[in-house]
Amino acid sequence: MPRTATTTARAAVPGGEAVATLERGLTVVRLLAAERSGRLSRADLVRATGLARSSLDRVAATLRHLGYLRAEGQDLLPAPRLMEFGNAYLAASRIPALLGPLAHRLADRLDESVSISVPDRDGARFVVQCPRRRAMAVTFQVGDLLPAERCAPGALFAADWDEEQWAHWRRRLRTDPLAAGFLVVPPHRGALPGAADFESRARRAGQSGLAVDDQLVEPGLVAVALPVTGPDGAIVCALSVVSHTSRHTADSLRKLALPLLRTSAGAMERALADPSGADLAAEPPAVGPAVRGAAQLRAAKDEIGPEFLQSLARGLSVLTSLRTPGGLTLTEAAQATGLARATARRALLALCDLGYASGGSDMRRFTLQPRVLELGYAAQAGLTFERLATPYLADLVRRVHDSSSVAVLDGVDIRYVARVATTRVMGVDLAVGTRLPASATAMGRVLLAGMPSGQAADLLARSAREPLNGRTLTELPDLLAALDRARTDGFALVDQELEAGLRSLAVPVHDRAGDVVAALNVAVHAAHRTSDDLRTHVLPELAATARLIEDDLAAATEWLSSAAPLGRPAIPAPDGTSGEESDLRAVR
Ligand code: PHB
Repeated sequence: MPRTATTTARAAVPGGEAVATLERGLTVVRLLAAERSGRLSRADLVRATGLARSSLDRVAATLRHLGYLRAEGQDLLPAPRLMEFGNAYLAASRIPALLGPLAHRLADRLDESVSISVPDRDGARFVVQCPRRRAMAVTFQVGDLLPAERCAPGALFAADWDEEQWAHWRRRLRTDPLAAGFLVVPPHRGALPGAADFESRARRAGQSGLAVDDQLVEPGLVAVALPVTGPDGAIVCALSVVSHTSRHTADSLRKLALPLLRTSAGAMERALADPSGADLAAEPPAVGPAVRGAAQLRAAKDEIGPEFLQSLARGLSVLTSLRTPGGLTLTEAAQATGLARATARRALLALCDLGYASGGSDMRRFTLQPRVLELGYAAQAGLTFERLATPYLADLVRRVHDSSSVAVLDGVDIRYVARVATTRVMGVDLAVGTRLPASATAMGRVLLAGMPSGQAADLLARSAREPLNGRTLTELPDLLAALDRARTDGFALVDQELEAGLRSLAVPVHDRAGDVVAALNVAVHAAHRTSDDLRTHVLPELAATARLIEDDLAAATEWLSSAAPLGRPAIPAPDGTSGEESDLRAVR
């Protein structure tokens, strides 16, 4: 809750105000991320933080400018870009990159859900999830935190706790007996599950190197976990197999899974000891696009004025700079961000103080801690592509006053996955889910232009290519020439080929790998805008919107896609092979 007492005291020491500002910003992010409804009004945030309204407005303006929050009326909402923070921790920990592929292989071989979690204070936080898609499946998200006493990994972690950690846990049981501070724990009735015998379960887990969750977190859910230790013998994470009582008892799951669990945990320990020999998931670059340099932040200050809190922006860029495996020294963090040493130092110490970073025993190397994932990662990890794109479409529609949509390729058709219509009476009426022939639509043409040309030609050859009116291109050579043009121009304009009176301008949306995964368009009534008008006035807005969607998509899928060995795309592949529509979770 509010750290106002601390922050007020800080403001009195040199640089204290900068630290207090960073703390306020992180508190606002944390409160928004923890809010089940996904939004909080400014008045709610003023109440919850104890901040003055003017201070909250400055924090909100800064976070909005950096793309971490959105505003809708008086409400503030977390934005997908918040996943940059969790992405930085996941990259630095190397767990998804090194161990993710092994976890996915185990899930495939057992045909049960598998997860990896790490110790986080008195809880276990998920960092890899490989769910099987079943009707009876609880799926926690990467970033979710479970209380140690109510999951299998928790007993393994607690086996290593010292007296101070046990005291911390007992205090939490007293102050929060229902584990209400843990967002994803289902409410329960009756005796507290897991707490009474937790100490003896932790002892047994320490001795046997195995822990079982027999419906501790939720009725029906059973899990078996093994520890994975690093080269120094300390537990790095726990590997769990999770099932449901409709398929397994805790005991039958243990018998079934144990041999393969042991083999996988052993392979994981070897991968941690010798990363060079590991079968790595595509590891994102150590320095992500997220680190904003000092010059960029100064430019933002010039643009936004006094509302822009540089110390908050600087602190957040220090946080994201720590995505290098092994962490950074103060000098390296100052270099990575372009900030003065004193500024970087203040931010690092504040991040340590809040539990988002650690400086180790000698405060020489700063590493991100799993708690960083509470800053919106799990809240955004369940996002669908429709929800990711729609706010940007709405902004675009407000600027251009015409309808905008996103579509993906589905066989020889395009399928609408997001749409915001203008209120204009003559608006073209198309719902999400609508299919249209790819060959006759601007979105279809940029999607086809993004495919290898042989594949696009095959697809066109297979499609009906019916003349929908006198203007429709139907001949293969004409269509292939149109695709070439779209490839060169970076957009496609289709003028009344689909329907008389309808013009559409579309640009591609790329994934992290640079592949075209969706198309974004603005459709207009021919009487309202000429083709030239579309190219001159709408194209720049459309391209800028595509960039914003691409940035969010990249942040949202950094680890969701690369931890899966087959790297299934976050949204349907351009050839329409993935039936999982626009669900970003489909990648796991
Ligand atoms: C999970 O991965 O969802 C999971 C793992 C271990 C538990 C409970 C749930 O004890």
